[in-house]
Amino acid sequence: MLRFDDRVAIVTGAGHGLGRSHALLLAERGAKVVVNDLGGALDGTGASTGPAAEVVELITENGGQAVANTDNVATPEGARAIVQAAVDAFGRIDIVINNAGILRDRSFGKMTPEDFDSVLAVHVRGSYLVSQAAYPYMKEAGYGRVVNTSSPAGLFGNFGQANYSTAKMGLVGLTKTIGIEGARNGIRANAIAPIAWTRMTEALLPAEFEAKFTPERVSALVAYLVHESCEASGEVFTVGGGRVARVFVAEGPGWKTDDLTPEALADNWDAVMAEQPYVLTAGDSMKAML
Ligand SMILES: NC(=O)c1ccc[n+]([C@@H]2O[C@H](COP(=O)([O-])OP(=O)(O)OC[C@H]3O[C@@H](n4cnc5c(N)ncnc54)[C@H](O)[C@@H]3O)[C@@H](O)[C@H]2O)c1
Repeated sequence: MLRFDDRVAIVTGAGHGLGRSHALLLAERGAKVVVNDLGGALDGTGASTGPAAEVVELITENGGQAVANTDNVATPEGARAIVQAAVDAFGRIDIVINNAGILRDRSFGKMTPEDFDSVLAVHVRGSYLVSQAAYPYMKEAGYGRVVNTSSPAGLFGNFGQANYSTAKMGLVGLTKTIGIEGARNGIRANAIAPIAWTRMTEALLPAEFEAKFTPERVSALVAYLVHESCEASGEVFTVGGGRVARVFVAEGPGWKTDDLTPEALADNWDAVMAEQPYVLTAGDSMKAML
């Protein structure tokens, strides 16, 4: 059994849905958990101490260790307070699971700057701020595990979610760079793109998905990614209904000429669009251009 004894985990947005399930699973396997949740509505308005406190109560009733925190991930003070809560209660930080999220869906033409900024603030800024506040502790320990929560909507696009998809693809870049920079200090970062039945999706998914797409089926992957035995870093995985798959950004073989013109591109568009054989790194991409 993969256990987390003596490990300290921060799970943001852990009062409901996926974060709650991640927190319960890690605590059941011995981790000490900071259960962070602002306790607001799906669109990010409002706040309540209830959801975080309820999850902590559940963990402690089951013999686990957890503390509640209701700070906002999207502000520097909030992120610092979340990390401080872990240090004050448990003395270290091994795991950061950036899961807090909100929705402000609207078709692209109607989206307001407020809808756009508030979604980016929670998902992107929040993941950046909380990870960065925890980073010095992980560096010092020479060990850390970060999981960011992306979405198929970001990886593949989705109607009505220009703000959310921008944020969720942004998290892929953040994850990859934390993975690259953290490597020398034993810090690994990965992203998940889940599908699960939660308050965020219950009105969107078909009713028959409820039994199959449980949050627990996402948490299993998250727990593996934040375990010390998992060496994966900079990766992105779709996960839902019991299936897990690596998602990768690949570059096709491309087409080149010394006389690149718009007309030459029009004539050779099929070659530009070809998918195989692909390359996966910036280095290989550059080599192919030379
Ligand atoms: N459920 C899915 O199918 C699905 C699909 C793709 C991505 N996601 C992502 O998974 C994550 C969890 O979503 P969920 O489906 O469990 O939804 P959820 O609404 O049940 O959980 C999100 C939690 O984040 C909390 N939160 C929101 N803003 C916060 C803030 N500023 N600071 C602290 N906490 C805050 C909320 O109070 C809530 O408890 C989100 O990032 C979401 O975008 C979910």
